[in-house]
Parts: sequence; structure tokens; C-alpha cells
Amino acid sequence: MPQDIKVDQMQYEMEVEKTSTTEQQKWEEEQMSSGVYKFGAKKQQEKEQYELLIDNQIEFIQTANIPGTDDEKPEITEKQRKKLNIEETKKSLPIYKFKKDLIQAIKDHQILIIEGETGSGKTTQIPQYLYEAGFTDNDKRIGCTQPRRVAAMSVAARVAEEMSVKLGNEVGYSIRFEDCTSERTIIKYMTDGTLHREFLSEPDLQSYSVMIVDEAHERTLHTDILFGLVKDVIRFRPDLKLLISSATLDAQKFSEFFDDAPIFRIPGRRFPVDIYYTKAPEADYIDACVVSILQIHVTQPLGDILVFLTGQEEIETCNELLQERVRRLGSQIKELIILPVYSNLPTDMQAKIFEPTPPNARKVVLATNIAETSLTIDNIIYVIDPGFCKQNNFNSRTGMESLVVVPISKASANQRAGRAGRVAAGKCFRLYTAWAYKSELDDNTVPEIQRINLGNAVLMLKALGINDLIHFDFLDPPPHETLVLALEQLYALGALNHKGELTKLGRRMAEFPLDPLMAKMLLASEKYKCSEEIASIAAMLSVNSAIFYRPKDKLVLADTARKNFFVHGGDHLALLNIYNQWANTDFSTNWCYENYIQHRSMRRARDVRDQLVGLMQRVEMEIVSNPTETVNIRKAITAGYFYHIARLSKGHYRTVKHNQTVMIHPNSSLFEELPRWVLYHELVFTTKEFMRQVTEIESKWLLEVAPHYYQDRELEDSTNKKLPKTLGKTNSELKNY
Ligand code: CDP
Ligand code: MG
Repeated sequence: MPQDIKVDQMQYEMEVEKTSTTEQQKWEEEQMSSGVYKFGAKKQQEKEQYELLIDNQIEFIQTANIPGTDDEKPEITEKQRKKLNIEETKKSLPIYKFKKDLIQAIKDHQILIIEGETGSGKTTQIPQYLYEAGFTDNDKRIGCTQPRRVAAMSVAARVAEEMSVKLGNEVGYSIRFEDCTSERTIIKYMTDGTLHREFLSEPDLQSYSVMIVDEAHERTLHTDILFGLVKDVIRFRPDLKLLISSATLDAQKFSEFFDDAPIFRIPGRRFPVDIYYTKAPEADYIDACVVSILQIHVTQPLGDILVFLTGQEEIETCNELLQERVRRLGSQIKELIILPVYSNLPTDMQAKIFEPTPPNARKVVLATNIAETSLTIDNIIYVIDPGFCKQNNFNSRTGMESLVVVPISKASANQRAGRAGRVAAGKCFRLYTAWAYKSELDDNTVPEIQRINLGNAVLMLKALGINDLIHFDFLDPPPHETLVLALEQLYALGALNHKGELTKLGRRMAEFPLDPLMAKMLLASEKYKCSEEIASIAAMLSVNSAIFYRPKDKLVLADTARKNFFVHGGDHLALLNIYNQWANTDFSTNWCYENYIQHRSMRRARDVRDQLVGLMQRVEMEIVSNPTETVNIRKAITAGYFYHIARLSKGHYRTVKHNQTVMIHPNSSLFEELPRWVLYHELVFTTKEFMRQVTEIESKWLLEVAPHYYQDRELEDSTNKKLPKTLGKTNSELKNY
């Protein structure tokens, strides 16, 4: 059995200072005594006024309370907190009291599992404690992995600030396509995927004295694979310390996996959170979010709001709706500061979410899952949880991978609610019914390794010389069929030979921090003499969701601008067209503005492109341009994405191998055209299974680029002509079928 080092929760409770009950608390108690949250119950007069302000109000029912581990008031108020300097803030974190014990435990054990409530200071403080304790004196670094890029960047920035150093010097971060570290870096935050790649050049992690696998409970694919890799490394690196840090209850499981490593528990500071459910299911949860935000804003005492949405698009929609309503309400309401957070958010915007809220104003943070555990935003008192997240799901039967919005698990719902109880007692408004919570949500989220395509992971493991994947030390093994499918896919791509060994092509593919399909597309561009073009397309695909700017009041203009980039052949060539036109203006900001293109995304595409070209040169590819050879460009794309092919027959698109019905996304340039054969970049499931980024191909190319995968007879009706006009139906007509 693992030995629990620390500590029971009583210890903390007893140390809390009592503060007097505030006005706010009294009022809340009064209001809550009925058990039903009523809109505007504070004063009848206000109620009437607010009813005028907000239509479609939502009635919530309180049926539960998540008890805190501590129901006292925090020992410092938010206002005082702002005044504290960094040193004092650090001392106020729950982890601070355990600094000495923690360091001792790390000295005593090679592997330690650390469990502590989110926001207790694990991510930002532990590396600093280790540094102070001399773990970097031997010219080695402390590494800390994060499942999310934004978390890696923002935490590194925070720690650099706390240590008064410039980001990128002593403290830095490294994420895909962006390395902000230097020779001097001793504390390095990175994504789990980045560490995974580092194993290729440094299999023994020689430059590290401590490796922290942080946010282990998130169980991303990369984190899960890292578990197996680091467990192996520490066997022949006795001087390397390994910390597995987790926010939730998986500590026991981690401990067992790591040969019964001891668990160090940091007692959390958590205040009770009242849970409210909607009476009936909400049909439009974005609208329900907007209503709830305003409802809280006008009826509840000050305190910031955190809203969980599934992705950038939803966040932007919600942001616009909310801005518009706030504008309409004008000076009738207090200031509401709206801040979005998602993974592609530019750095300067990220910093904003951590800035203290000005007095008499309220901050509302519209976030993806990233705020569930990876990022802690102080002063959140209210949480709005629509109950969904976006997941990458893979169907091993059909081999199809798709981004889907799915209900969250109970564990996630409770994590989200917990975010309201970090600095004081809070409230969580769930935009679903209590019944739905009990009967429709799974207990836990299935780890990524059991539900996504493993192509990338398998390629990396093979490149690390790990051939026997069936016997790899997985915390939870992936389903057998998924593993087999990944091997088959890599074989069809030419990355593995029939014995399952990495080929020369596979070795080159592994050099790129990309999905194997995209890596293959890049390498195939050598043969088709269009590597410049394919590099641009790959870069644009990497930022694809955020290229266009569609302000609500200029939708028509923006859509016309977008359509102006359409070219014959499909969306990949349209992306290339955008990139090339922008490059021809010498990367002008103004040009982006005039064409409703997000300049930031384009800049990022340029950065990604530069790095891809660098990697292409490293694998000794010839960098050539052939912009007019659009057939060759499309053939190179097909050489990578020949798995993603659909054929039009009897008015519907079906995938070639598995006969699944799919549709062209309405934003695609081919939406009205309906070519017989199309290739898609990805599938997104909303109301239907939509293909996004679609290109017209000819079926005979498939035999050329993937002779092992396709046979003649599968492609029989390969006339490649468009349907005769009379038979051809546009997508909008097909809707009636
Ligand atoms: O890792 P864990 O969830 O235990 O906590 P943490 O991320 O180390 O956060 C500790 C404190 O640092 C919290 O009060 C955060 O709000 C603060 N923090 C911050 O102000 N800015 C950041 N970029 C990250 C954390
Ligand atoms: Mg953390």
C-alpha cells in the first residue's frame, strides 16, 4: 500500500481565521432559505425593473449543495489580496505550508504522487520550491508538462513574473511551433506533446533533474503515454525525480501504476457551492448563458462569473450576444467586463483574464474546458455550466474521427462547480435539469487513449524504438482494435513495412510534430514538386478555425469577402490563395482588415509555415514552388488524406471505405458544386456529420497515391464527371430529400 505522507484536512480548518458575516452573506441566506432561486428576489421594486431589463429569464431550482472542505470565510478578502505583493500572495496559497515537507518527501522518494485541489499552487509553486531547494544547481532543469498550450504559456508567464525574470530566460515554455526557452532556462513548462517529442532527441531526459507530469487527471493521450515512458526512464536515471501531480481522486491509481509511490496530499481550501438546476432542459444553451449572466449580474452581489463553453466559435457567439445586450442596457447596469479564453487566444489577451477586476465592476470569463482545472482565475464566485464539452471521438469500427460536442461527466460537472468555491462560498448554475445530471451524465470522462485515433502516438512510439505496443506499459490500455487500426493506417501511409517496422518514410514523418496524414502530405509534396504550396496549406489548416472574421453587423460583407477567395478545386486551394495573396501584400495588416481575415491567425500561419519549411529542410526535402500545378497540389494532399474520401451517389455523400453518410459543410466552396469525389480534412459532427475543408479529387489519383489501400473495383463508378445538370442537385435541394 502507498504511504500517505500528508495530511488530514482538520489541520487547515483549525488554522482559518474567522471573519464576521458580511451583508452579502446575510442577504444570500435570506434568499436561499426558500430553497428556490428566484430571479430578482432582493427587492420587489428591483425585481420589476430587472424583469423589464431581461426577458426570457430562467428559473433555477436549487437541489444540491457541494459541501466545501472548509466553510469559513477566506482569511483575506479580495481587496486586501490585490494589495498584497507577490511574496505574500505566494504565502497565501494552500501549498505554502507544506513547502518543507514536500521538498523533504521529494528528496526521500524518487517518485511522488501529489494530489491537491485546483488552485492550491501545485503548478506555479512546486517548480520554484525545487529551484530554491537546489534541484537546478547541477546545471539541470526542472520540467513540467501541461496538457494545454495556453496553460503552459500562461503559467510560465506567471512564474517568470513571480521570480522577476524575463519570460524565456530562466523560466520558459515550449509548445508546438513555439519554443520560448534559452540556454539559461531552468524551469521549463511544456505541453505533454512537446515532452513526448523531446524523447526522440533525448530518450533519457538527461537535461532534467526533476520532471513533473502535471494535471495528470486530465488523462490526455500524450500524458498517458508519458506515464509509460517516464516510468521506464527513472529505472536507469536514479538521479531523476518524478512527480505526478493531479487535482482529483485518481492519485491512488497513479500510485499503484508507479510501483506504489507515496501520495502527498495538499488539503484544499474550498468553500461550499450551491448548485442550481434549470427546471426544464434549455434548447439553446448559448442564449441561456447570456440570460443567466445578466440575471446574475443584476441580482447577485459582486463576484466574477465563469462560463464553460465548448469552443472558440461558441465563445465568440456568446461574446457578441452579450456585448450587444449589455450595450442595449447601457448605464442601467454595472460595468461587465467580458473576457474570452480558448486555446488559440493571443498571448496579450490571455494575460487579461488574470488582471484584478476593478471595484464595482464584474468580470465574466467565457472559457473552454481549460478553466476546469488547468487555469485558476481568482475571485470566481459564480459558475455557469451548460454541461457540454468538445471531444475528439474516434470510431474504431469505421475508422472515422470526428469532433463532437458531448455531455460532460459528473466528475467534470463537479470540478466546474468547484471553481466557484475557491475564494468564498459560491454558486453554480447548471443549464440542465437535476434529472439529467443524475441519469444522463457518466460518472467519469473516458481517458483520451480509449477514444481517439492513435496514429500519431503509435508513430512516435515506433520512432522511439518501441515496437511491441501490445505490451507497452499503459495505465489503461487502448482498445485492441484501435491499436491495430493505427498500425494499419501507418502501413497504408507507407510509414511502416509489413513487419510493422518504421520505414525511411516513417522516420521522416516522425520528424514533423503533425498528424501522420499531414506529415505524409508534406513529404509527398516532394514528388509532386509543390512543397512551397503544401507547406502553406498545412500551415493554414493548423489555424483553420480562426481565419475569418465575421462581425455580426457585417455578416454579408464578410461572407462575400470569404467567397472571393474561392478557386476551382476546393477549400485547400482557397486557403492557399488566401495565404499567397497575403504574402504578396508583404503580409499586410490592412489587407487582412479589408478582407475580413484575422491578422493574428495569419501571422501564426506564417510562423507555423516557417517552422515547417525548416523541418522540411532538415529531412532534406527540396523546397520548390509550382503554384499553377493545382492537380499536383491536390495529388499531394490526397497522398496524405486518402483515408478521408467521400463519393457522391444517389444524392448523398458516403465515405468510400465505410459507407458512412457525410455532408459538405455549408461554409465550403464546394457546398453548391457537389463534385463526384471529394477529400475532406476533418469531420465535425453538429446536427449532421459535416466534412470541413473539402477538395475535389479524381478517383484514379487514389490508385496512384495509395495502391495498397484502394482497389480498382472500389472506385468503379469513376467517371469523374460532374452529374448532368438535370440530375445534379445542390445541397440546399438535397435537404428536402
Ligand atoms: O496548479 P494548481 O491548480 O494547484 O494552482 P496554480 O495554477 O499553481 O495556481 C496558483 C495561483 O496562481 C492561483 O491563485 C492562480 O490564480 C494564480 N495564477 C495566476 O495568477 N496567473 C497565472 N497565469 C496562473 C496562476
Ligand atoms: Mg495546475
